[in-house]
Amino acid sequence: VLLISLIGLWLSVIFNMFSEKRIVLSNGFTTALKLPLLLEDEDPDPSVARYTLNAQYGETVFMKNLPASTMGYNGSYLGPILKMKQGEKVSIRVNNELDEETTVHWHGLVVPGEQDGGPHQVIEPGESWTPSFTVAQPAATLWYHPHALRTTATQVYFGLAGLIYVEDESQTSRSLPDEYGVNDFPLIVQDRNFNSDGSISYRTDMMGILPGNTVLVNGTLNPYLDIRREVVRFRVLNASNSENFVFRLSDGSSFRQIATDGGFMREPLLSKTLTLSPGERAEVLVDFREVSAETVNLLLGNTPILKLRLSGNPTGEARETIPQPDAADIPIGANPRERVFILESMGITGTINGKSFNQHRIDEEIALNETEIWTIYSRGGMMMQSGGHPFHVHGTQFQVISRNGKEPPKEEQGFKDTVFVDEGEEVRIKIRFTQPGVFMYHCHILEHEENGMMGQIKVIP
Ligand code: C2O
Ligand code: CU
Ligand code: CU
Repeated sequence: VLLISLIGLWLSVIFNMFSEKRIVLSNGFTTALKLPLLLEDEDPDPSVARYTLNAQYGETVFMKNLPASTMGYNGSYLGPILKMKQGEKVSIRVNNELDEETTVHWHGLVVPGEQDGGPHQVIEPGESWTPSFTVAQPAATLWYHPHALRTTATQVYFGLAGLIYVEDESQTSRSLPDEYGVNDFPLIVQDRNFNSDGSISYRTDMMGILPGNTVLVNGTLNPYLDIRREVVRFRVLNASNSENFVFRLSDGSSFRQIATDGGFMREPLLSKTLTLSPGERAEVLVDFREVSAETVNLLLGNTPILKLRLSGNPTGEARETIPQPDAADIPIGANPRERVFILESMGITGTINGKSFNQHRIDEEIALNETEIWTIYSRGGMMMQSGGHPFHVHGTQFQVISRNGKEPPKEEQGFKDTVFVDEGEEVRIKIRFTQPGVFMYHCHILEHEENGMMGQIKVIP
């Protein structure tokens, strides 16, 4: 049996080495970019927000006349944007209209463990769950997705994911583009594998998941987007199951990154590329005022995934001044407690500190409001395309203090909830929990998360 499975593994290694890796499917950029709905707050009180999400099945047409079976929140694929303000009381009723278990996790939101939507807050088919919490963090682009054991990877793959926009008081005083759908756009990027009949095919083998043969942006295959020659803001989420993305603009324009996972950065960062691992977000500004070309493509590697069609004369200001974030650095005492997390994977499975996930075991206990230093190592993977892992922690926003012994790159100096640790790397973070309860930490390659690479931390008041 061992021999046969070893032969199987090596065959799949060889198959993966020679198979066409990605994005072979193109549609000609004839569909307008879909924009998720901004969900309406059902409560008229301005200090309270009430929302309803229905997790449901649906049909979505990605390729002309070829409907695919999908899943979505309040629709057939992806979900609406939930807006919430710092200090606001929010309650969200989640109805599970699927015939399998689900949960909804608020990725990046700092709320008590019981409201977090991790694997413990299962919603049975036909049931609902109504968490409520007060938003206690500054403006940021966060997201939500399912997190039940054994169904997370497929539910996300078939469409269950959406964005959360946290706003704060200083939002209005920031001179940032903020007209939704005009100069402020979400870009939810996912690689997907399609069959020739237009259906989505989720395929894994012992190696992991196969990269998709195309890329969707907001659930649209090869979309175009009409914009004016002004400064435009994009809120980019890598919502793929396992692929790292490197974005560029075809005319060589730069991205001015203004926010990381947890909110605005101290200093904007000008860069020709934007790299996001699964789960990570970035907000960027692009100045199109001086661009004379009619179209600029957003590229993934060298492949266009979104065609930007420019029109009009240059308008608006440069928006050079990006105000400081309000969030102070995480304070740290003289002798912080240190912990080590070793990530290892073999194909589709993985461990943290040699242990496979067990829902009935608390792996770490930490005191509320105590800052600690965590060191995360990736020992890499056997028989995986890459041994790198996006390490994610629930219920907190942390700060990276070093990468391989050096100061972290600028794009990692803001608040983060997910940090990529490549094979052989060592990343140190400063972390503190301000909400009690049980929280997950895991690799955000969803196939790894589901196959052992997750642990639980209990935050004790
Ligand atoms: Cu996107 Cu456990 O999270
Ligand atoms: Cu999370
Ligand atoms: Cu991993």
